Amino acid sequence: MKIWILCGLLWLAGGAGAVRKLSSSSATQYSAAVSAPAAGKGQVLSQPQKAKQAVLGEVADAAAAGEAPHWHNTKPSDACMPFDVSRYGHKSVDQFCAKLNSLSDAQLKELHANAPLPSSNGGFPLRGCSHRCIAGSSFAAIVAKDPDNNLGWGGKCFKWTLNPTTGVPTQLINIFSPQYDNASLPDSERVKGVQQAHARVYYVEHSRGDNKPAWRFDHGGAEDIFDPVRKSMLIVQGFNDEMREVRPGFLLGRIFISHAPDGALEMPIFFALLQACTADGHFPTTPEARALPPLGGG
Ligand SMILES: *[C@@H]1O[C@H](CO)[C@@H](O)[C@H](O)[C@H]1NC(C)=O
Repeated sequence: MKIWILCGLLWLAGGAGAVRKLSSSSATQYSAAVSAPAAGKGQVLSQPQKAKQAVLGEVADAAAAGEAPHWHNTKPSDACMPFDVSRYGHKSVDQFCAKLNSLSDAQLKELHANAPLPSSNGGFPLRGCSHRCIAGSSFAAIVAKDPDNNLGWGGKCFKWTLNPTTGVPTQLINIFSPQYDNASLPDSERVKGVQQAHARVYYVEHSRGDNKPAWRFDHGGAEDIFDPVRKSMLIVQGFNDEMREVRPGFLLGRIFISHAPDGALEMPIFFALLQACTADGHFPTTPEARALPPLGGG
């Protein structure tokens, strides 16, 4: 039996076929990952200027003025700004993810550490359904990135109920899109999927990663899922993701197991969530409604 971890999700998969595939393709991916050129310090995303959190800033101002916070983008029909891959010189989510994949774990950790810190009443930047990248150079990350192994995990959808104090959506649900990584298909096929496995979402003052604020996705108490096609069991209990917004519409996460015997244990896998929008500029509430930014075609 093989065990692996996927962005807050732990997979237990049986079958010699899966294990054989794992060893051959992982070696290729590992050598590709280690030979990728390292980007210059401080310009890992080669973007023109530092991130500004306009939405979060405005809400904080309202709170400072003694007004009740009013959150932006509280319903799917509100105007949605997709994560702008072109601003970072890319044509698609695939290309942006490839860029993240060229970064070392140390650089990814630095991006996470240097991101603006969330505040206790500052809201949350993502709405509706998002795209994702899996990143990191560890063996676990390379396994998780292999389309044969990630079993179609293809992002997360946030629910529309916001915590009235923090402005953070109270819940998310994971997306499983079986063809998500199949770049030979059009986006409209790749984004199709189902929503399964809930997590609670909340602000934490002291993250496990560096004791500073973050948003946590808490899979404690989530339902386990059996995949009848791959005969795999998805265990989601006890996994915590710690997220920060590195650039507008781009959240980066570190992953911890909360119930490890000697305190929290970090999984050496990073992942990004990217704001997606519908073709007509609203917030997607289903996986297949994610039309922008383009997933492939780059
Ligand atoms: C990817 O899509 C193609 C169709 O373009 C299909 O033939 C192939 O089996 C798919 N690959 C996987 C791994 O599902």
